[in-house]
Amino acid sequence: MIIGFLGKGGSGKSSTATQFALWLEKEGYSLLAIDADHNMDFLYNLTQGKEVLSHFLGSSGFDIEDFLDADHSKKYKEIFLETKSKHKFSLLPLDSFSEKYISSIRKNIRVMAAGPQTDEVIGGKVCSHNLTSVLKLYLPLLQVPDKHIVVVDEKAGADGVTTGIVTGLDYAIVVCEPSLHSTKTARQILSLLEKYNTPKVVVGNKITSPEDMDFISQEIPDEAIIFIPASSGVRTKPSEYDPQYEEALQNLFQYLLENYEDKRYERTLEKFSS
Ligand SMILES: Nc1ncnc2c1ncn2[C@@H]1O[C@H](COP(=O)(O)OP(=O)(O)O)[C@@H](O)[C@H]1O
Ligand SMILES: [Mg+2]
Repeated sequence: MIIGFLGKGGSGKSSTATQFALWLEKEGYSLLAIDADHNMDFLYNLTQGKEVLSHFLGSSGFDIEDFLDADHSKKYKEIFLETKSKHKFSLLPLDSFSEKYISSIRKNIRVMAAGPQTDEVIGGKVCSHNLTSVLKLYLPLLQVPDKHIVVVDEKAGADGVTTGIVTGLDYAIVVCEPSLHSTKTARQILSLLEKYNTPKVVVGNKITSPEDMDFISQEIPDEAIIFIPASSGVRTKPSEYDPQYEEALQNLFQYLLENYEDKRYERTLEKFSS
């Protein structure tokens, strides 16, 4: 299963993705953590700031095209439509593309990241979305074995959806705090997810009172919402599992398992075919 975290900047995507990853590790799952945000907070949290990657997705464009035997001048849409097979990338065993861009940090945790802003992005030659555009091909074409979960920490705001990787997710988790701007962004993201038929669930984060829960429920009606309490642990020790998350993460994962359907490839095919 591939699960992506989306939401307004500061809502708690990276913190929630980290807690979820640590919880899955504790429950005996094997993880691939993909940091799609160039600030790389998710990677930092999981590695405690150690530099573990020598290759970043941000500069993997030619490699993925070569791996898929595609011409460098082709658009991802054309490349995808020409692949004609659901599984091109594999976690068990690792295919040669994945092997280059993935590092193992613990027995059951592997990581991959967009990487830092390149001079080209800073100089305005290319847009920062390019850092993760390979995920448009990689996620829908990745075979994820049983007991393996891929967790993607996305860029902030509705950008995370418009980069076009969402059809490659089995689930989009929209993280939202009890504030008007956060719920507004969450609604924008949810309507884009609806358009691409990507299954979604809302996480109401940083909850301090029943009023906080009511506020989010009223602002975001008709969506499944899992609430996470405000915790001082994640603020000061973002790399450590915080037991205050236990119940919420159990409920969240249970919900994902009950509603899971392997349709990434089909949804992406539909998007690229239209
Ligand atoms: N449940 C929570 N309780 C308290 N603080 C939180 C919680 N979740 C996130 N935070 C804090 O909120 C800030 C933004 O979180 P972060 O995960 O970096 O957000 P994002 O990745 O969405 O930009 C950080 O300072 C983080 O420690
Ligand atoms: Mg973040």
